[in-house]
Amino acid sequence: MRKNMGVTRTSIATFLVLALAQTALASPEETAAALSQLVINTRSAVAKNFTQPNKIWWLPDALYRLILARNAVLPAAVVGSAIHPLNDDGVVVLKMVVREPRNEKNKPDAVETELLAEVLRTGQLASRSTAQHAYHARPIKAVAWCMRCHGLPKGGRDPIFPKFRKEGWSEGEVIGAATARVKR
Ligand code: HEC
Repeated sequence: MRKNMGVTRTSIATFLVLALAQTALASPEETAAALSQLVINTRSAVAKNFTQPNKIWWLPDALYRLILARNAVLPAAVVGSAIHPLNDDGVVVLKMVVREPRNEKNKPDAVETELLAEVLRTGQLASRSTAQHAYHARPIKAVAWCMRCHGLPKGGRDPIFPKFRKEGWSEGEVIGAATARVKR
């Protein structure tokens, strides 16, 4: 009898500790939502603090290329170098997914491909829960100064980074998604 009471007390204590831990820790879904916001915020911080105030995007191609090569002012490059190294162990995977990614590391998996289609269609955030992961995706919108490299004509050479082709995006269009995948 005494032994059973002990077991009961232990299991109640264990249950309480687990319940407390559950409320104290964010769920994978909440973590994924926060991390996709982090990708968006970092992108806009780079744009607002470096790219836009410097107003460098109207410079002639050669000068713009030189400045970009020497200063980390391109949101995708800065954010990519910050988030992609985290992806290696697969616990948290952060990307900026678009239809035809320039960077391999932004290539979507099957679920991210579905989320991208949904975000492009609705212009709103989207999420999915699978047995192994929680996913969250938020829209990325193109503005005027993105067009130099990503605008029209679609398939034309990017004048600043000539190894890439322009995507043909237009101003104000939702062109991609900041995604976060969090392992359970
Ligand atoms: C000076 C040229 C240039 C400008 C301007 C520019 N980009 Fe990019 N963008 C690039 C390059 C180059 C890459 C690939 C970076 C890398 O190697 O990861 C890229 C990558 C991206 C990616 C990641 C997906 C992928 O293809 O790997 C997104 C999303 C993106 N750009 C959106 C934008 C948006 C939105 C703007 C404007 C707010 C913008 N870019 C402005 C050159 C540019």
